[in-house]
Amino acid sequence: MESHYCDSSGLADEIAERLRSSGKDLNELTAADLTTIDEFHIRGRLATLELAEQMKLTKDTRVLDIGSGLGGPARTLADSYGCHVTGLDLTQAFCDAAQVMSGWVSLDDRTAFQQGDATNLPFEDNHFDAAMTIHVAMNIAAKDKMYSQARRVLKPGGIFAVYDVLQGEGGDPIYPVPWAREPSISHLTTPDEMEAYLTEAGFKILDVRDSAKESQSWFEAMTARIEESGPPAVSFQAFLGSDFPEMVRNQVCNLTERRIRTVSYICEA
Ligand SMILES: C[S@@+](CC[C@H](N)C(=O)[O-])C[C@H]1O[C@@H](n2cnc3c(N)ncnc32)[C@H](O)[C@@H]1O
Repeated sequence: MESHYCDSSGLADEIAERLRSSGKDLNELTAADLTTIDEFHIRGRLATLELAEQMKLTKDTRVLDIGSGLGGPARTLADSYGCHVTGLDLTQAFCDAAQVMSGWVSLDDRTAFQQGDATNLPFEDNHFDAAMTIHVAMNIAAKDKMYSQARRVLKPGGIFAVYDVLQGEGGDPIYPVPWAREPSISHLTTPDEMEAYLTEAGFKILDVRDSAKESQSWFEAMTARIEESGPPAVSFQAFLGSDFPEMVRNQVCNLTERRIRTVSYICEA
């Protein structure tokens, strides 16, 4: 699964080079400058900020980001709320790059990244005040383990914010998609199954929001941009490969035909 996302150990150097070529000064970067590459989910930074609004964050909140990727969502929270975010991801190369990228924007004191598995979290019980996971569960078959581990490491009353791609009623997704080139590493649940997983893990669901329409518009705009001027120099394509434009086109179909949905859940531990 890691090889789907990245098999490059020099990822931060590669991203730095792309940023320089696109005219950015690495000494003047802000967290927002990195969002075309490090907010690796549908609707990018805006979706992270929407989720964060409901997480009751203050500068004293200690947050866990499960499946933190290149660290964009973690930096967005740390930058916007002053909280501390620990990111955990299965892909070592992403953790290494995330740490370096936090240094570029002076957020290395408020973010930390470590390699690990969402289904076996390397943290003590009741450790974090809040947790989030964005576009990760679609690669994880053992969702019961993933959500019960999240519940275990959260303090009672802590908020767990989930934003994920779910199975829609329109049939199987058309592949490749950004999380999988073929079905064997794709594990989508329906909204009913998702609610059951979260409840059985011990969470109370406070809010559910379906953003499939906004996601469709977001991919349509991206397709139009790619058709006009090619993929952006600093984008997910840096680590997803040359079939990225095909993935984006498929996502427009998948959303239009309701094969997938994007849904967020705000839960209380
Ligand atoms: C689409 S990316 C999303 C990254 C990040 N949440 C974001 O929104 O920018 C999915 C991430 O999930 C990670 N992942 C997949 N399975 C995982 C697991 N079992 N434990 C931890 N991370 C996992 C991948 O390595 C990848 O970084």
